[in-house]
Amino acid sequence: MFLKAVIKLAFTDTLAAWSNRAQRAKLRAGGVALHPQAILILKTNNYSFGKGVTIDAFNYVCVVPDATDPTYDGGLFVGDEVYIGQWNNIRAAGGVIRIGKGTMVSQMVSILAANHQMKRDQPIWVQPTERTRTGVTIGEDVWLGAGSTILPGVEIGNGAVIAAGAVVRENVPAFAIYGGVPAKPIGIRDAPGA
Ligand SMILES: CC(C)(COP(=O)(O)OP(=O)(O)OC[C@H]1O[C@@H](n2cnc3c(N)ncnc32)[C@H](O)[C@@H]1OP(=O)(O)O)[C@@H](O)C(=O)NCCC(=O)NCCS
Repeated sequence: MFLKAVIKLAFTDTLAAWSNRAQRAKLRAGGVALHPQAILILKTNNYSFGKGVTIDAFNYVCVVPDATDPTYDGGLFVGDEVYIGQWNNIRAAGGVIRIGKGTMVSQMVSILAANHQMKRDQPIWVQPTERTRTGVTIGEDVWLGAGSTILPGVEIGNGAVIAAGAVVRENVPAFAIYGGVPAKPIGIRDAPGA
């Protein structure tokens, strides 16, 4: 019994490692600069990375189906030339995350696709993800400052800036600068030629 469990575990781990190596090689062949110390957990095919994408060290990027409902998929679509710095947490479970061309994700940023349901009659961990406010859409040429958190359901317009430490729970218009907890407008980028 014990031996069977050990063999099963070893086999599952080996299979997972092999599959992850193949996924990483495919991304690199497609033009993604993937740091060896970035962790990618890709348990669905619902993802794509554009050309010239950088995923730097110590990121945790996961695209997985809902733990309590495997039919409910996560998704991650990353545009060309997106830069994902270090120590970011990109959790595409229970919703779809889209990151537009040329966007910069600095460091220690969390992009979160879904909330857990929180009904009091069951433990939170057995409840499926909440389905009314899911996914995150980030436009092109956006700058997400260090330590910012982007909550489920949020859309950030092209050219917007999210200040360091912001917790974003409402949509951000194009070219706006949002900061604080919860994030509010703190500025607007200068118009071209201003
Ligand atoms: C958002 C940011 C770019 C604004 O820079 P700036 O235009 O020079 O802004 P200022 O310092 O003149 O501040 C403008 C206003 O925004 C507020 N503000 C600036 N940064 C803020 C922040 N992180 N959170 C909340 N409010 C902030 C200021 O208090 C000020 O408010 P006031 O007008 O009421 O006094 C900058 O503050 C920031 O957060 N940069 C992120 C840096 C980073 O993460 N780098 C990672 C490496 S890529």
